Parts: sequence; C-alpha cells; structure tokens
Amino acid sequence: MSRRDVSQPLSTNPHLCKWVQKMAELTQPAAIHWVDGSPEEYESLCAQMVEAGTFIKLNQQLWPGCYYARSDASDVARVEDRTYICSLSRDSAGPTNNWVDPFEMRRKLKTLFAGSMAGRTMYVLPFSMGPIGSPMAQIGVQLTDSPYVVVNMRIMARIGLPVYREIEKDSKRVVPCLHSVGVPLHPGQKDVPWPCNPEKYIVHFPETREIWSYGSGYGGNALLGKKCFALRIASNMARDEGWMAEHMLILGVENPQGEKTYIAAAFPSACGKTNFAMLVPPAAFKGWRVWTVGDDIAWLRPDANGRLRAINPEAGFFGVAPGTSVKTNPNAMAALAKNTIFTNVALTPEGGVWWEGMTETPPAECLDWQGRPWTPTLARETGAKAAHPNARFTAPASQCPTIDPDWEKPEGVPISAIVFGGRRATTMPLVYQAFNWSAGVYMGATMGSEMTAAAAGTLGKVRRDPFAMLPFCGYHMGDYFRHWIKMQRSLTETPRIFHVNWFRKDANGGFLWPGFGENMRVLKWIVDRARGRALGRETPIGWQPRYEDLEWTGLEFPRETFDALQGFDRSAWRSEIIGHEELFIDLHSHLPKELIYERELLICRM
Ligand code: GTP
Ligand code: SPV
Ligand code: MN
Repeated sequence: MSRRDVSQPLSTNPHLCKWVQKMAELTQPAAIHWVDGSPEEYESLCAQMVEAGTFIKLNQQLWPGCYYARSDASDVARVEDRTYICSLSRDSAGPTNNWVDPFEMRRKLKTLFAGSMAGRTMYVLPFSMGPIGSPMAQIGVQLTDSPYVVVNMRIMARIGLPVYREIEKDSKRVVPCLHSVGVPLHPGQKDVPWPCNPEKYIVHFPETREIWSYGSGYGGNALLGKKCFALRIASNMARDEGWMAEHMLILGVENPQGEKTYIAAAFPSACGKTNFAMLVPPAAFKGWRVWTVGDDIAWLRPDANGRLRAINPEAGFFGVAPGTSVKTNPNAMAALAKNTIFTNVALTPEGGVWWEGMTETPPAECLDWQGRPWTPTLARETGAKAAHPNARFTAPASQCPTIDPDWEKPEGVPISAIVFGGRRATTMPLVYQAFNWSAGVYMGATMGSEMTAAAAGTLGKVRRDPFAMLPFCGYHMGDYFRHWIKMQRSLTETPRIFHVNWFRKDANGGFLWPGFGENMRVLKWIVDRARGRALGRETPIGWQPRYEDLEWTGLEFPRETFDALQGFDRSAWRSEIIGHEELFIDLHSHLPKELIYERELLICRM
C-alpha cells in the first residue's frame, strides 16, 4: 500500500488553506499533517505514540484495539480558572465567566503561540459536531500539535475526508480551533510522554466564533469539539439562532407496548449522566428498555411543528472510569471493551486496566495512574488511589449495546421531558416536577451540586451550577436564563420539567437511594407524568409522587425511607433560597422578570 503524503492539503477551500498557513507561520511546526480520519492513519498515529511512550498498547486478547495513556500529574482535569470568554464587552461574558479584553488576549495568545509547535507536527483536523449533513450539525477545524488529541477526536466526533467535503460544498461557517500543548522542541531535545505547559489558557472569542487553547492536553481543555465548541461557542450560536446547546444526556424510554419517550437531562460533571443515559431497568420492569442517544451534550431545536428535537453532537463517550462496573453500568463496560483509549486509570500486570469500583476485589498489584506500584494494602494504609478520580475512557458510542436506532437521525429525536439534577446530601428530594415552564427554568437556574473531581476546585462544597452550565455557558448567565424563558414561545408543546437527586444521605452518611438501575422507578414516573397518566401531590416546591405513585415491584423499599428521601424541610429550604439569592444578586441586571416572580411565589408558598 502506498502511503499518502500527509503534508498535501486535503482541502482547496482558500479560507481554510490560508488560515492553516498563517497559523503555521505563527506556531512554526516542523511538519503539517492533514488528517483524513482513516483507520490506517489512526493505527499509525497510535503506533507512533507507543514509540514515543505516550501510549501503551493493552493486551489485545483482553482489550482489543485499546490503548492506555498517563497524563502529566498536573494535567488531569478541566481548568475553569484558566478558561476565558473574551467577548468585546465584559458585560456580555457576565460575572460567572473569566473575561479579558479580546485585543489584549489576542496579543497574549500571539506571544504564547509564537513558535509553540516547533519540532512538532501540526495536525489539521476537520470535525463535524452532529451527524455529517444534519441541518443541526456544525463544523470546526482544530489545528493541534497533539496526536493524542487527534486519536481521541476520531472517537468523539466525525472527522476527516467527509468533513472536508462539507467544507468544500457548503457556505457553512467553520469554527477555527487552535490548540497547542505549549512545549516546543529544540533540535535534539527529547520529548516527554505527556507534554503540557504549567501556564494554561482555554480561550473563546464568542463574536468571531474562535477557540484558542494552550498548555493542556487533557479532556475538555484539549478535545475542542466538546465543551469549548459544543457548549461555549454553540451556546452563543444557539442564542442568536433560536436553539439550545446544553450539558445534557439524551435517552429514550420504551415501554412494553413499544411506546417511546425521549428525555434530556442536565446533571453537572461527574454526577451521573453517563450512568443515567445507559440505565438498565430492574428485572421487575419486564419489557421496558432504555435507549441511549447521548451521554453529555444535547443540541435542541424546535421543529416545523414546534416540537423540541435533540441531537447528540458527539460520536463517542469521554466517560468517568472510577465507579463504572458491570454492576453499575454494564452498557458502558460493553462500549469500552474494545477500540477504547484509557487515560489515568491503573495498569495491571497482564496488560489490562483497572480502576476503583471496576471489580469488587482489586488486583493484587498494579501500576497506578502515575506508573507507581500500587497494592490494596498500600491503598488501605495510605488511601492511595490506583486510578485518578477523573480518569476517563474514550469509547465509540456505536459500541454501546443500548445505542438508540435513531441516534444519528439528522432531524434528532422529540423531547418530552427535561430533567435537572445534582449531587446533594441534603434538602433536595429524590424527584419533583415543576409547576410549569417558567417554574422549571427557575429550577434549572438555581441548581446546586457538590463539587467533584471533574474540575480543579474544593471537593464536596455545594456550588450553584445553573443548568449544569456554570463552566460551559459562553455568555452572560442572566441572558442565558432569558433565552430559556423565551424558548417557550417557539414551542407548541413544552417538555415537562423535573428535578432529581440520587445522592441524598442519611444521618450516617449513607445514600438513602440505591440509584443506578433503580432510577428506572423515578424515570417511569417522569415518563407517565409527561404523558399525563401519573398522579402526584402538590407541595411548596412542585409536584411530588406519593409512595403509591411509584412502581415498587422487585424492591423492598420502606415507606419511612421514602418519606426521608422526599421530605421537604422548611428550614433547609430557607437556606436553599438564600443560596439562590447569592447567585441572583450577581446576575440581577440581566435576570428575566419571570425568575424574580418565581422566587417570590416560592417564598410565598413556603
Ligand atoms: P461528566 O462526563 O463529567 O459530564 O460526568 P457524568 O455526569 O456523565 O457522570 P457519570 O455518569 O460518569 O457518574 C459519575 C459518578 O457518579 C460515578 O462515580 C458513578 O458511580 C456515580 N453515580 C452515577 N449514578 C449514580 C446513582 O444513581 N447513585 C449514586 N449513588 N451514584 C451514581
Ligand atoms: C465534564 O467535565 O463535564 C466532562 C469531561 O464531560 S470534559 O470533557 O473534560 O469536560
Ligand atoms: Mn460533561
């Protein structure tokens, strides 16, 4: 087989070619590689990374097509304090985003990127967020000096030749994304397995729809189609064009009669989206199936009939590994069984992977996520984790056994319900339904959750995370709330809105709710409510199921525990509303009236 000359441009689009040339002049790479997205190219990049020590090829008997990577210990999660929305005015970015004047930031970036790719290859990586050709899809081109990013993006998005064709034929706007790990190589200098720079900048220019990312090779910092494009830039496009870009999973519930109901759910990072999207109903739910459309991001748009439709802009799962097991999420385990990239999990002596929670008995020994020897005894004595808490797998969505037959439908799937949720040890009940759309928007706007390892920060502290979008909304959060309120006008039928909390704890710190597959009981009530066939009880915060409104077959669940789970604690809610106020004070000049009235109504009902 003759090797293609990768330096030959694969596009004739003059804007693209000129931009590539200009960025190459700035960053000074040793070579340019136009990515075609083929399996041969993927294998050759992986082999090259094995050679360089970035990748370890796993035991192919156990893990066919799988690779293993360890990041630098300082580059393990999104860096929210280094993430910027550089709109022309500070007010358009709002108080929840870091802002720097775009002209000043461009000057800064030009100095950082000058020569930053020296000694490395610059990959030209065209990608489509959403099925290629879908009216809801968007196109980007990422220039990156990280082959790790290229192979991960091949799983997470549609990339390569078909995307160049879209760029050729279409007047479609392309979002330029420039990415460098920020470690130029001088002649003769030896590379490290995971190059990254202590100085990091994840920068968005919303008006010109550009992304510049410097210094990190990890996850959302570097796979620019994901959070940077599909949420921060796309939320700006969505506001201007009348659609929504949300941090939501999408799933379909099929009942024994074959009726299918799609719901979208927003939970903050590491709060259970992947698990919920792949839920396995308990045995007692004979004939019920849950189908997966997406596990992290949803783009939603009203169709010609005013129905809200959703696509998953991604093609893979970048999922949290720890806690994923055959018991908690067999579908994820099946999806990641082959052709998967593992980052920051542990490596077993047989050339396999392991992480906390994967099996009940840990391996007798392994190498931890930094390559140091790890044993269960060491873990007991020192608390050392084999896998980093934000260790992730990158797996093709098509390998998920429950992937929905319609998951790549260009027009998306119809959404009947929207669910909000967070990680809350107290206050928030297992489930309740908002009275109407604006009460539902208030519910989303005031969401809170305990911090997790998905971002750098204080673990366990409750922070307000409106719509699970705090780190991902690319403009003023108050204007984003207004956009949600306004969306109702373009919908003939609004999805019903719910709030769930799988994480409420008892006095001893144990979870009150078994979670995972048992969440089906809550999901069934949600579906039945959305379709107008289930009862509930009116409470000050919304509609709640009574004990007898949930299906309990196959689960011994005492009424008292249910009452504790669903309990409305007036004094806890008083402080909760004061917590809402803290966020609202910061946003007040942009808050829609509806939210101010909703808060007043809530206080009155209490
Ligand atoms: P991102 O990819 O960061 O956006 O995260 P995610 O929202 O997809 O989170 P994920 O599904 O990966 O869950 C993260 C953690 O939540 C894991 O440790 C799970 O074990 C845990 N988890 C998920 N669902 C449940 C549940 O129903 N109950 C309990 N107690 N834990 C859960
Ligand atoms: C999240 O943090 O919500 C993720 C992981 O899904 S990352 O892609 O790193 O943003
Ligand atoms: Mn996420």
